[in-house]
Amino acid sequence: MEKKKKILILGASGFIGNAIYKELCNYFNTYGTYCHTTVYSDNGQFLQYDMREDDIVQLLEQVRPDFIISTLRGDFGAQVQAHQHMMEYLIKNETKLYFISSANVFDAYSKFPSYEYDKTLSESIFGRLKIKIENMMMRLPKEKTAILRVPMVFGNTSPRVKEIKMHLEANEPIEVFPNLIINVTNDDRLTQQIHYLINRNKTGIFHLGSKDLIQHEEFIKEVIKQLGNYHPVLKRVFTTNEDRYLAALPKHNKLPKNLRVKYQEIIDHHLPVE
Ligand SMILES: NC(=O)c1ccc[n+]([C@@H]2O[C@H](COP(=O)([O-])OP(=O)(O)OC[C@H]3O[C@@H](n4cnc5c(N)ncnc54)[C@H](OP(=O)(O)O)[C@@H]3O)[C@@H](O)[C@H]2O)c1
Repeated sequence: MEKKKKILILGASGFIGNAIYKELCNYFNTYGTYCHTTVYSDNGQFLQYDMREDDIVQLLEQVRPDFIISTLRGDFGAQVQAHQHMMEYLIKNETKLYFISSANVFDAYSKFPSYEYDKTLSESIFGRLKIKIENMMMRLPKEKTAILRVPMVFGNTSPRVKEIKMHLEANEPIEVFPNLIINVTNDDRLTQQIHYLINRNKTGIFHLGSKDLIQHEEFIKEVIKQLGNYHPVLKRVFTTNEDRYLAALPKHNKLPKNLRVKYQEIIDHHLPVE
């Protein structure tokens, strides 16, 4: 029998990292890190890791994963350094790195959506951080890394939807961007897609969002309809006069049909507030 793959999720106490952990833990030998969230301290599969203080290489030598999935947030300098050290480890070891990147790597190109092999360019410090880490990864042999570009992630337990529910309950305004055109996903879809990529040992660049586009305001209104009979106050924020795209669409590296997703499915997946 084939040995179970060993997976290490950096940031497994966070929204996306934890969703990936839950999806994978029954199939693989899965480990995760937490930093401030101490509820995981008694769980043998979870290790404490603070990228500002701890040496990532030491952690990797302890776990010896076949796959690292990086879903960290936090101090930018520490993120860059941790990923730099990871590159050195990857060169010397039989390990692959999956990095959760973002559609923001294209946020300077606002007039059209972007595809896997388009040149990246960002005007935001967040987008530039992602580009910096992506560029380090692209210098390694292709079979070592996967760049997973992800749009805004929704879902019942997502911080984005929790915040909307909170505003609805409190009758507070909800921010929408009427001329922002996006693609979207949710935690369930994203983690199923990552599961597939690991099963197949896939590497390269993947755009893991819906294949179709919707205006941010329309999307949020539809999600709110799913949540119940609310009459929300919307705060319409116009950042430019023209339509602006923030969308990384799949074109070259498509997933099998049953794993592709449309925005309507993401809307429909939300459940009414109890
Ligand atoms: N959410 C989205 O819509 C979205 C969209 C596109 C891309 N992404 C990307 O996906 C990744 C995960 O996002 P998320 O929304 O899941 O974030 P999150 O919920 O804030 O989780 C972040 C993770 O990083 C850990 N962390 C924070 N500071 C740390 C430190 N100093 N050292 C080590 N670990 C630390 C957190 O641990 P503790 O909580 O235990 O401190 C947590 O496990 C990010 O890279 C983000 O850019 C997210």
